[in-house]
Amino acid sequence: MSVTVQRWESDHYMQHAGFVPKLGLGVVEWLAPKPGERVLDIGCGEGSLTETLAAAGCTVVGIDSSAEQVEAARRRGLDARVVDAQALPFRQEFDAVFSNAALHWMKHPDAVIAGVCRALKPGGRFVGECGGAGNVGAIHAALGRALQRRGVDARRVDPWYFPTPEDYRARLESAGLQVRRIERFPRPTPLPTDMAGWLATFAQSFTQALPPAERPSFLGEVLAELEPELRDEEGRWTADYVRLRFAADKPV
Ligand code: BEZ
Repeated sequence: MSVTVQRWESDHYMQHAGFVPKLGLGVVEWLAPKPGERVLDIGCGEGSLTETLAAAGCTVVGIDSSAEQVEAARRRGLDARVVDAQALPFRQEFDAVFSNAALHWMKHPDAVIAGVCRALKPGGRFVGECGGAGNVGAIHAALGRALQRRGVDARRVDPWYFPTPEDYRARLESAGLQVRRIERFPRPTPLPTDMAGWLATFAQSFTQALPPAERPSFLGEVLAELEPELRDEEGRWTADYVRLRFAADKPV
């Protein structure tokens, strides 16, 4: 069993990862939201994209596992709720389910997809994007090796699920959804701050597997290993993101 330790603090998140909602606009294009539609946003975070969907005229329910992020989304005036996406409580009430940069934190994808199918009206659509196979590959491998050198099996604490298109298509289809489009593509992403900020935001499960006294040297080793590959001469860091984007329909 893996153990996920991850805390979201919305100001810190926007400082180190403000690109996440901005780069999610491509998924919104695939969704093509229409005024009057009722949309569920899985992993709404602080609500940037939820707000975009609401501005398109949709009635949006945003859900997230983080109470801090839900609170930040509510401060924007959004209907945001703390809900476990692996146990969705909704029945045939949404025209569309949307998700950006959240599904890869959920280690039970079939439970998520089954809940999405229940939540959709017949003819509804599920459009999303998450990390695809090989996502943050260099970072992931460096974290794993640095833990291994300290006697920790990274698989035990790894919070991420990065599927191949084949894997995710099979799961969507076996739940009864019809896949319209599914694509995996590299998206190297320049970081607004640096890799230390990225690791502090996203890699808490790995870091907190170690006693506090060991964490600075662990992070130093990871940064030193990544620097030749992901930091340029001007000192700018780029994360080796790979995306998986899909659109699937529930039959009428
Ligand atoms: C992602 O958006 O792909 C991602 C973000 C943080 C950690 C892992 C993946």
